[in-house]
Amino acid sequence: MKKDTLLGHSGRNPRETHGTINMPVYRASTIVFPDLETYSTRPSDDYKTPRYGIHGTPTHWALEEAVAKMEGGHNAVAVCSGLAAIAAPLCAFAKTGSHLLVADSVYGPTRSFCERRLKAFGVEIEYYDPLIGAQIKKLIKSDTYAIFCEAPGSLSFEMQDIPAIAREAHAHGIPVLADTTWGTPYFFRSFEHGVDVSIHAGTKYIVGHSDVMMGLIVTNEKYWLPVRRAVADYGYCSSADDCYLALRGFRTIGVRMKQQMANALNVARWLEKRGEVKRVLYPALESDPGHAIWKRDFEGAASLFSFVLKPVNKKQVAAFVDALKLFGIGSSWGGYESLVTAPNIAPLRTATKWAEDGQVIRMHIGLEDPEDLITDIAQAFAAMANAV
Ligand SMILES: Cc1ncc(COP(=O)(O)O)c(C=O)c1O
Repeated sequence: MKKDTLLGHSGRNPRETHGTINMPVYRASTIVFPDLETYSTRPSDDYKTPRYGIHGTPTHWALEEAVAKMEGGHNAVAVCSGLAAIAAPLCAFAKTGSHLLVADSVYGPTRSFCERRLKAFGVEIEYYDPLIGAQIKKLIKSDTYAIFCEAPGSLSFEMQDIPAIAREAHAHGIPVLADTTWGTPYFFRSFEHGVDVSIHAGTKYIVGHSDVMMGLIVTNEKYWLPVRRAVADYGYCSSADDCYLALRGFRTIGVRMKQQMANALNVARWLEKRGEVKRVLYPALESDPGHAIWKRDFEGAASLFSFVLKPVNKKQVAAFVDALKLFGIGSSWGGYESLVTAPNIAPLRTATKWAEDGQVIRMHIGLEDPEDLITDIAQAFAAMANAV
């Protein structure tokens, strides 16, 4: 099946659900068994038959199946947030005294989790240049337990050469964990590029409507049980209602993402020509240093990018952001609406130096008409100029 057909048909079977198109919401904590023998012999590593609410219900499995199939993974599990989907695999393989390689451009809370939690368990964390590619081999030690990637990097959008990193990781028998939220299961087939454990903040494009927190972990066959057991050991789970909404959102991810990518390219190309802008950080643009890798590995781009302003003062940055009428100021992305933030990247770097002196503006482009968004940004640039 082609992927748009798969999106509409995986994870549902109307013949088994009284003809309903969507898998209904099965809310459950307790699941009852027909007799003591069946209860006593329930298999502990089977996470796809009814056992106890924490391990999921048919509503969870429908979402998990649809996401895993789209991405080409072996299996998936839904958890309560993107950050939980990051934490569980990071802990699944960690041991005291082991070593973890983490891209310097990772999502800030991933770094906080490594610094505040994994270090306290005696794990050595080493951040690496996201552009390192095959040279990662120089950093792999005998006790390295995993390599964590995120492509492109949070806020700064450096594109990582995941296949090159994966070749080195696999030569040393270690897994590649990757935050693939930006690529989504629709635009990035992680497992064809060497990812072993793919992590999604489903909160973004999978849910797609800015109203549910959701994490999804998709793995290949080799790493399914260790990851799934870690999720169970930590007691991570998600609600059936949230899984229902996430799957409803996921059904339309194709049309949303194609349209949002077109809108984002439209806005990004316009920004590239503006005098106020030094550089647009978006791998889908031909001018981006990561464009060739993006084109090789991805089937499309998310509508999230940053740009660097030519130096202006703080008051002007605030004047620009505050003047935007169609962009909400707030965390997250992946919904149908446009958003803006003004992140400070330099303090988040330790292995590399963030060399840009201009303010970075991160934009998420929604489904609005890009002409309206451009008009809005143009008037905000005028407000910035007037705020000297
Ligand atoms: C790249 C990336 N990964 C993970 C997350 C975490 O997702 P959640 O907010 O669902 O915990 C985010 C959230 O902004 C993100 O941007």
